[in-house]
Amino acid sequence: MRLAPVYLALGLFQGGCGGDPQTDPDARVPAPDAEILNDDLSMPLAPTVDSSQFMGASSCGGCHTQHFNEWQFSMHSYAMVDPVYRAAVKVRQADREGREDRFCLQCHSPIGTRSGDIQPGFDFESLEAITLEGVNCETCHSISEVQRPYNAGMVLDVGGPLKGPIENPESSPAHQTEYSELFLSSKLCASCHDVVEVDGMNLERPYQEWLESPAAEEGVECQTCHMPTYRGRATNTSAERDLHEHRFVGVDMPLESDFLPSPEDYDELHGRISNLLTSAATITLSAEPGAAGDQLDLFVSIHNNIVAHNIPTGSTFNRQVWLEVIATDADNNVLYETGTLDSNGDLRNYWSEEEQFSDHDLIEFGSRLTDIAGNPTVFSWRATEHHTNSLSPLYDRTSTLFIPTSAATRGPIHIEARLRFRSFPPYLLRALGLAEFVSNLEIFDIDSISLDVDLLDP
Ligand code: HEC
Ligand code: HEC
Ligand code: HEC
Ligand code: HEC
Ligand code: HEC
Repeated sequence: MRLAPVYLALGLFQGGCGGDPQTDPDARVPAPDAEILNDDLSMPLAPTVDSSQFMGASSCGGCHTQHFNEWQFSMHSYAMVDPVYRAAVKVRQADREGREDRFCLQCHSPIGTRSGDIQPGFDFESLEAITLEGVNCETCHSISEVQRPYNAGMVLDVGGPLKGPIENPESSPAHQTEYSELFLSSKLCASCHDVVEVDGMNLERPYQEWLESPAAEEGVECQTCHMPTYRGRATNTSAERDLHEHRFVGVDMPLESDFLPSPEDYDELHGRISNLLTSAATITLSAEPGAAGDQLDLFVSIHNNIVAHNIPTGSTFNRQVWLEVIATDADNNVLYETGTLDSNGDLRNYWSEEEQFSDHDLIEFGSRLTDIAGNPTVFSWRATEHHTNSLSPLYDRTSTLFIPTSAATRGPIHIEARLRFRSFPPYLLRALGLAEFVSNLEIFDIDSISLDVDLLDP
């Protein structure tokens, strides 16, 4: 398997020029052997489960109301209705003529992939309700073993007792239970959260990052941050105990305005994501007083506060984490800017339709996919390389920016810096035919800081 992502400090997103990688068929990679796509565990040719064996999440919710209410509005329940997901899968279906149709489904709907509901050329509109539940209760609570820490390598013990973290649960009239230490461990999340393309290219690797991080030794698991503990009742009638939140807050907001029940729910989720993101990284700025008519050397350092994984992690090739710096003089003349957007809302890098490459200093954290011709592409199956510069746990990255002061009328020079986050860039939504959602994209400020620097007489 090809691992070894390329780590570059700067200029990562600036390279490559030329034809349109979105439409150039020559830029595509040949399809892999059919064998790779017939994994006995996660993409079996013959069904290994029967969809009638599953109760469905709302039945669980009859007793586990609190868990259901939380899960229902999580990204796990969104996994098969997500318009970005559906649009991306449709592009792959067309590119690969249905040959790889089960690949993208094995984690987003393990039940549908293993029950035979997902067949080559399938259509989202005609799938069974249980398939469309995505990552539902019974998917996780049937996991008896993780055989492979990526690509849906979990064993589902369907029809067996439901597994969970409670050592001595009360008896349940609806199902048997079994205590499983796996539920306390990051390994439970690994099989879906680490994604390897069919040609062996690493796409998402939060679990690998976690294994190499201080968190693994300290026993800080994915659940610690993404399933916080609170006191409550596991069912409406059982005794109080420590429960674990099933909202799975990360960075994504649903893009449609009707997935969550009310505008207040959007505000609440926005607040939760914002809290998570503002804990994630810190900016430090410093500069010596400079002479008017010359330049200031501005030192910028970004520290990843997350002990467990990179920032960003997961689908880093979709995420945007970037530094915005704006410098003004005492009369409010803008002397310098980087990380500001063009009129389409895109960063001024390779993907800007209006001002391509006009932001020479742009500092981004994330990753970039390139095709066989070396051109950036947004689709992993058209890519042959995945270059990443996302920031490792507890690491710093420092850069120097040169702020020209020749146009300054008088000092001090005021510098505003923000580390910003956006789940998807507008150009990606446009490439997927989802331009209607661009105005729903949220930008979060991970950190912001300002600095005044005196201007010395030349
Ligand atoms: C190994 C499991 C796995 C496979 C296979 C997989 N995904 Fe995902 N997908 C995930 C996980 C986990 C996330 C959440 C990642 C995050 O939030 O960073 C995700 C999120 C997404 C999203 C939501 C956008 C986002 O960035 O949050 C899209 C779109 C998507 N996947 C498309 C696809 C497509 C297209 C394929 C097939 C090429 C695919 N996925 C195959 C696990 C998988
Ligand atoms: C008729 C009510 C009822 C229904 C329906 C029900 N459960 Fe339970 N479940 C319980 C009770 C009671 C407990 C024990 C709670 C306790 O001890 O606090 C329990 C415990 C659990 C546990 C904890 C097991 C452990 O050892 O950690 C899990 C996981 C679970 N249920 C999942 C589910 C899922 C998934 C569904 C739907 C397929 C479901 N339950 C449907 C009543 C129910
Ligand atoms: C110490 C707390 C902490 C732990 C432990 C942790 N995370 Fe995170 N996670 C965060 C923070 C903060 C963010 C938001 C910043 C970011 O995107 O990296 C985040 C974001 C994410 C996202 C969305 C990332 C994106 O940009 O698409 C995923 C997916 C995720 N975590 C999965 C995991 C998995 C899987 C584990 C276990 C291997 C884990 N996390 C462990 C704190 C944590
Ligand atoms: C993505 C996997 C996943 C999904 C989906 C999921 N759970 Fe869980 N669930 C867990 C994990 C992991 C724990 C234990 C967390 C811990 O102990 O740190 C847990 C714990 C529980 C418990 C024990 C009490 C508690 O809160 O610790 C119950 C009951 C439960 N889940 C029910 C449900 C129900 C009902 C659904 C669907 C509405 C559901 N779960 C969906 C992973 C999942
Ligand atoms: C059966 C596969 C599966 C398992 C197991 C699983 N996840 Fe996920 N997870 C997904 C998929 C798929 C998505 C993205 C859905 C989408 O956005 O379309 C996701 C999304 C998330 C997100 C939201 C990320 C964002 O960008 O907002 C978090 C947080 C998360 N998972 C945490 C966990 C944790 C913690 C565990 C282990 C306790 C876990 N997941 C286990 C498949 C899984």
